Amino acid sequence: MVGLIPSVFIDDLLTRVDVVDLIDSYLPLKKTGSNYVARCPFHTEKTPSFSVSRSKQFYHCFGCGASGNAIGFLMDFSHLNFVEAVEDLASFVGIDVPREESATRPLHDKQDLASLYTVQQHVAKFYAQQLRDSSNDDLAVQYFKTRGVSGEVARDFLLGYAPDQWHLLADQFEVGLLKKAGLVIAKENGRVYDRFRGRIMFPIRDRRGRVVAFGARVLGDAVPKYLNSPETPVFQKSNEVYGLYELLEKEGRPAQILLVEGYMDVIALAQFGLRNAVATLGTAPSRMHFDLLFRFTTEIVVCFDGDEAGLKAAWRAVEAALPCLKDGRHIRIMLLPEREDPDSLIRSEGVDAFLARLATASSLSDYFFSCLSEDLDMQTLEGRAALMVKAKAHLEILPPGYFREMMVGKLNEQVEHVAVELKPEGTRRRSNTSKEKVTPARTANALLLQNPELAQSQFLNEGVNLSLDSPGLNLLRKVLAVIAEKPELTTGGLLESFRGEPEESQVRALVQMPVLVPEAVLEMEFAGAVRRLVAQVVEADLAQLLKKEQALGLTLDEKKKMLRFLAMK
Ligand code: CTP
Ligand code: MN
Repeated sequence: MVGLIPSVFIDDLLTRVDVVDLIDSYLPLKKTGSNYVARCPFHTEKTPSFSVSRSKQFYHCFGCGASGNAIGFLMDFSHLNFVEAVEDLASFVGIDVPREESATRPLHDKQDLASLYTVQQHVAKFYAQQLRDSSNDDLAVQYFKTRGVSGEVARDFLLGYAPDQWHLLADQFEVGLLKKAGLVIAKENGRVYDRFRGRIMFPIRDRRGRVVAFGARVLGDAVPKYLNSPETPVFQKSNEVYGLYELLEKEGRPAQILLVEGYMDVIALAQFGLRNAVATLGTAPSRMHFDLLFRFTTEIVVCFDGDEAGLKAAWRAVEAALPCLKDGRHIRIMLLPEREDPDSLIRSEGVDAFLARLATASSLSDYFFSCLSEDLDMQTLEGRAALMVKAKAHLEILPPGYFREMMVGKLNEQVEHVAVELKPEGTRRRSNTSKEKVTPARTANALLLQNPELAQSQFLNEGVNLSLDSPGLNLLRKVLAVIAEKPELTTGGLLESFRGEPEESQVRALVQMPVLVPEAVLEMEFAGAVRRLVAQVVEADLAQLLKKEQALGLTLDEKKKMLRFLAMK
C-alpha cells in the first residue's frame, strides 16, 4: 500500500476542479439555464437528460439515475478506482497527489510498484523481440503459424517467446526486481535462473495497460502446459482477466463480452475478428470477474465446454453471477460441443457458424430453470415443490429489480401458480429514494445537502433542539458539523466527505432527491422541515415515555426528560 491520500487534499482538489470543465472535456456540454446538459454517457438515450450543475459541483442523470461529483464521474466514465480517479483529476489540474507518511513502514512504496510495472513491461518487449530473433530458429514463429496466429494479433497482444535458456533475464535487468516480479527463481547458492524457458509468452496487462504478470505455454506437449507468474504486489490472479485491456483498446463500451477459459481462446477469437473475448486466469469465473466486466458492458456470454466438467463450471458461474444481476445486466450461457473450446471450434466451423451458435446461447433465466428442474419430475407435486425450494434460495440472492420480479414470475409459472413470495433482499440498499415518502427528516437533510449555505440559517441558533437521538437528526448534525469545519464545501464536496461513511448511500440519495423550492423561500422551507422533524422526534420520545410510565413507572431522569419534552411542545 502507498501512503493514504490526505483528506484535505481531496477537498482542495475538488475546489480546484470545475466539474463542468472536467465533464465537458470528455463529452461536450450544452448550457441550458443554470445547468449544462448532454446525452448521458452511462445509458443510451436520444434526448439529453444528463445534467451538470456548476454551483453544486455535481452531475445527475434523470434517465438512469447516475450521479456524483468529479471523482465519481472519472470512476464511472473511465472505469477507475478511487485512487486512480484522484490521480487523474490531479493531473487534470496539474498538481501532484501528496501521500501521508504512515506510522508503520509501508509494505511496498510507490517507487517499488512503479519499477515492478516497468521491469515487466521491458521484459515483455524483450520476449516479443525474441520472437523475431533469428537465433531462436523461428521455433515460436512456426508454432504461431501452425496455430494460425498472425503478426498483427501477436503485436496487439504483445505475444512473445522465452528462449530455452536459463540465464537470459538476469544479464539485462535488475535481479532484485526480476525476483519480485517472479520472473527469476533464486537457488540456494544465491544464483538465479529464468522461470520461463522455451515458452510462448502471454503478457497479462491490467486495465491501464501495465504488464502485471505473464502466462507461458510450452511449444510442444510437455507438462505443465502452462506456467503463470506467481502473485505479486501488482498481480492477484482472481482480480484480472486476460485480454481486457486489449479489448478496451479497440472498443471502450462493447455491447457484449465473451468470457472464455483459455489464453489461446482469446487469441484465436481475435484472429477471426472477434475482439470482445476475455479469459479468467485458470480460475472459475467469480463474482469479482462479473462485477469487473459489467463495468464495461451490459451483456456477458460465458463459454464452456459441454462436457461434465464444463456443465459444472457453467452452473458455478451462474451462481457467482446472480448477485450482480441488476436490471439492465444480462448473462448468457454458451455450451460448446464436448472436447471443443472456442479456439478449436472457430477454426473448424468458421466465424459465421460460431456467431450463429453465439446468437442462440441460452439466456440465464432459461438456463437457470432448465438446470434446476433437470432431475425433477415437473408433472408431480413433489417435483414442483422441490423446484420451488431450490429456486427460491437462489432467487433471494438477486438484487431487487424487474429482473428479480420476472424470475419470480417465471418460477410461479413453473410451479403452476402457487404464489411465491421471496424474503426481502435485506443486505442491499434500496436504490431509489425519490419514490419513497417525503418526510421532514428527508426534506431537511436534502435541502441542507443541496444548499450547504443553509447551515448559516439564523434559526439554527435560536432554540431549536437538534440534540435528540433520531436517524434524521443524527444525520443533520453530522452534515452541519462537516459544513462548520469546511464552510466552502459544495454539494459535490459534501458527498465526497461521506465516501466510505455509513451514511454514504443515504447522502447520495438525498443529494438527488427532488425538492423543488424557490430560492427566496429556501431558508423558510428548511426551518419548517427542521422544526417538523424535531417535533416528530419529541412526540415519538414522549409517547414512549408515557407508555413506560404506565407500564413500569419512570426513573427520576426519565421524569425530568418527560417534563422537558412537554415544555417543548
Ligand atoms: N491453465 C493453467 N495451467 C495449466 C493449464 C491451464 O493456468 N497447467 C489455465 C490457462 O489460463 C489456460 C486455461 O487454464 O489458458 C485453459 O486451459 P486449456 O484449455 O488447457 O488451455 P488453452 O488456452 O485452450 O490452450 P491450448 O489451446 O494451447 O491447449
Ligand atoms: Mn485450447
